[in-house]
Amino acid sequence: MKKVSAYAPASIGNVSLGFDVLGAALEPIDGTSLGDEVIVEQAGAFSLTVSGPFAHKLPADPDTNIVTRCYHYFCDALVKKGVEAPVVALTLNKNLPIGSGLGSSASSIVAAFHALNVYVDSVFDEDTLLTMMGALEGQISGSIHYDNVAPCYQGGMTLMTGAPSPVTVKLPVIEDWYWVACYSGISVSTSAARDILPKTVPVPTALTFGRQLGVFVHALHAGDATMAASVMQDVIAEPYRKSLLPGFDEARAYSMTNGALAFGISGSGPTVFAVCNDKQQAQQIAGWLDANYIQNDDGFSHVCRIPAQGAVAKS
Ligand code: HSE
Repeated sequence: MKKVSAYAPASIGNVSLGFDVLGAALEPIDGTSLGDEVIVEQAGAFSLTVSGPFAHKLPADPDTNIVTRCYHYFCDALVKKGVEAPVVALTLNKNLPIGSGLGSSASSIVAAFHALNVYVDSVFDEDTLLTMMGALEGQISGSIHYDNVAPCYQGGMTLMTGAPSPVTVKLPVIEDWYWVACYSGISVSTSAARDILPKTVPVPTALTFGRQLGVFVHALHAGDATMAASVMQDVIAEPYRKSLLPGFDEARAYSMTNGALAFGISGSGPTVFAVCNDKQQAQQIAGWLDANYIQNDDGFSHVCRIPAQGAVAKS
């Protein structure tokens, strides 16, 4: 029986300074699987089974599950290409919390599309598949942005081009940085976190945003970690979104006075991240966030690297 499984990692959207255009994949250094998995198996009729620690938080009706929607979207695209759509049984192992800011929906979407595409012998190229992933992410969050699906699928740190091809470019990463990610345990809806943002940006803010992003990209190419960290501030979303995140200011203050080079909201939150170039400091900050930023039993912290590899499929 034909079978393909795909794992797709968690990701940080925005990375503070690149609202909607910059994202990074995450890989815990202790080997924890921080990402969703989708299994595609040959079957007589379509079905979706959900399992994993956050499966109980998904909608009860499988027809409304994003993975089912990916399947139908994928089959429609196949049929448009004159390729027969496969009948399959899907399993979603939901390891990422929903509304966490860790690119949870993107992880399910990427794992589903990647597994389905490998199952049909990679009918679609990377840009076409990425465009489909962006469309599905847009259905969930209310607007199409690639800053989670792209790093989740492609790995590394990705910058969106705004063009149909290539959809993204990969940026160099600072190899000795550790990324502490702490999920507080509460859920923040991305569409709600977008609705609280002003619809226009003042010119001085736009100039700061452009300068920071330009300097950051230059610094990464130059391998200048100090310069890169110096521009990692969010002038677009954090001033408004932090009101949704209890304990955010204290978490930032602790992290920045205990060795973090930068601190910010992962995607639309509530996960926060701290960047460190020292493993012990990263672990100490993770421990403090565990004790002080987490609100309930669903919360967790991980010290991560940015992996070069994104989604991985096995058959
Ligand atoms: N760039 C998106 C936002 C990421 O900040 O709304 C959502 O995870």
